[in-house]
Amino acid sequence: MKLFKNGVSRRSLLKSSAAVGAGVVGASSLPRFAIGQEAKIKLGMMLPFSGTYAALGEAINNALVMGVEQNGGKLGGRGVEYVRLDDESDPGKAPQNANKLIKSDNVDFLIGTVHSGVLMGMVKVIRDTGTMTICPNGGAGAATGPLCTPNFFRTSFSNWQPAYPMGDVAADKGAKTAVVMSWKYGAGEEATGGFREAFEARGGKVVKEIMVPFPSVEWQAELTEIASIKPDCVFVFFAGGGAVKFVKDYAAAGLKDSIPLYGSGFLTEGTLAAQGEAAEGLLTSLHYADTLDNPVNKKFRADYENQFGKVADIYGVQGWDTAQLLIQGLDAVQGDMGAKAELISAMEKAELDSPRGLVRISAAHNPIQDFYLREVKNGENVVIDIAAKQLADPARGCKMA
Ligand code: BEZ
Repeated sequence: MKLFKNGVSRRSLLKSSAAVGAGVVGASSLPRFAIGQEAKIKLGMMLPFSGTYAALGEAINNALVMGVEQNGGKLGGRGVEYVRLDDESDPGKAPQNANKLIKSDNVDFLIGTVHSGVLMGMVKVIRDTGTMTICPNGGAGAATGPLCTPNFFRTSFSNWQPAYPMGDVAADKGAKTAVVMSWKYGAGEEATGGFREAFEARGGKVVKEIMVPFPSVEWQAELTEIASIKPDCVFVFFAGGGAVKFVKDYAAAGLKDSIPLYGSGFLTEGTLAAQGEAAEGLLTSLHYADTLDNPVNKKFRADYENQFGKVADIYGVQGWDTAQLLIQGLDAVQGDMGAKAELISAMEKAELDSPRGLVRISAAHNPIQDFYLREVKNGENVVIDIAAKQLADPARGCKMA
C-alpha cells in the first residue's frame, strides 16, 4: 500500500514540539495523539451549493455535520473545522477548487462531491497529493475502477449500481424494448449503460439513447420522439431540480399512463414534494427508501426533520454515513492523521450501521450494499422488494497500489 506525506499541519506540529521540547509533558506520558491535539481536524467540503444539485449538496453537508455533532462534535478526539466550497457542479473548475482546499486551506480530509464530472476533475489531484478523501455521492465508476487509490473512499454508490437492477426489473415486467435518456455526462452514460447491460442480458433491446446537455431541462422534442417510438418502457437518470421537471413533463406529455417510466432512484429522491401526483406509482431502485423499517433509519429521519425542518433523503444518508466512516477511521488512530496506513486500514474494515442497512467497503473502496425496488406511494418512496442483495460494483480495472 502506497503511503503519503503525513497530514498533520505545520502549525500544530510546531505547537506540540514546542510543548514537548519545553518539558511540558514527558514523551512517555503523551497520549497517542498529543501532537496537534488542540488542532481541529479540517474537513474540506467541496459540494454544489448552487445550481440543479444545490439541494443535494446541502443535504450531504447538513447530515454530515449532524453525524459529527452526535459524536460530541469530535473526530478521533479532535474538534472539527469545516471549510466549505461551492463547486457549482462545474468540472472545469474542479482541479483548481480541490487544489485550493488542499494547498491553501490545508484540509485534512477532502469531502466531495456530487457531480461525477467534478469528481473526475478532483481524482488526479487526490491521487497526486495523496489527500484522504471521501466521496459522499458522485458515482463516476473510474474513481473506484481504473483510477482507484488507497486514499479515496466512497460512501455512496457507483453509477452502475442503482441502474443495473432496473434492467432486470424492466425485463421481469415483460418489456422487450426500451428508450434510455439522461444528461450527457459520466453519470448519465454509466447509469443508462448499467440498465442496458442487465436489460439486454435478459433479451431486451435499447432502441434509442437520448442524451441532453447537463443541466438543460428542455426536452419537449425528445418527449415527442419517445411518444412516436412507443417503446415498452423508458429508463432515465436525472436528479435534483432536473428530476423534478422531467417527472412533471413526462406526465404532462401524457406518457406516464402509456409507457412505464423507470429510473435510478435519484429520479424520485428529495423531489417528491415538488413532483406531487406526477411521481405517484413510479418504480425506481436505490440503496435507500423512506420506509426502511430499521431503528437507525427511524432515528435518523426524526433527527434530520427536527433539526432541519425537511424530510431526509439518500443524500442526507450518504452525508451521515460519511461522518460514520470518519468516526470509525479517526477513532482507530485517535485523530492522528499521520498514521495514514492504519487510518486507511480502519476505514477499509469499517462496517456502517446505516439508515440504508449494513454497508461494507469493497476492496476498491466502494460500498457493498442492498438495492431496493421502490414505488412512490402517497408521496413516499416505499420499499416493495430487494432489487439486489449486497451488490458490489464490478470495479473493473481497479488495482490498489
Ligand atoms: C453524479 O453525477 O454522479 C450524480 C449526481 C446526482 C445524483 C447521482 C449521481
